[in-house]
Amino acid sequence: MEITHIEHIGIAVRNIEACLPYYEQVLGIKCYNIEVVEDQKVKTAFFLIGQTKIELLEPTSEESTVAKFIEKKGEGVHHIAFAVPNVADALADAESKGIQLIDKAPRNGAEGLSIAFLHPKSTCSVLTELCQH
Ligand code: CO
Repeated sequence: MEITHIEHIGIAVRNIEACLPYYEQVLGIKCYNIEVVEDQKVKTAFFLIGQTKIELLEPTSEESTVAKFIEKKGEGVHHIAFAVPNVADALADAESKGIQLIDKAPRNGAEGLSIAFLHPKSTCSVLTELCQH
């Protein structure tokens, strides 16, 4: 697999609005986009640091996997996303090496990215996202 950089770090929060002052006023990084991803039942807020983003994830439904994550583990780091040139190729490569996939094929993520997740059971317990611009 060819990873070019950390595309973003996903952080599960109960309330994005409540977190904005910390990121914007304390860390001094501006939120440049807030977007609802219907597919994943989350509202997302993005901050850019170099070429890496922080992605806050707020569940919009109790059915959301992020809501279940918060219920189980509390708020905090939810996933790490690596940028790859081609998600389908990276998935095939991971599967050939015995990695359990959550997504068998790339799907649409926030900001028009093509994304897919690897199961934490196979990734030393870190939910791992692969994404392609
Ligand atoms: Co993500």
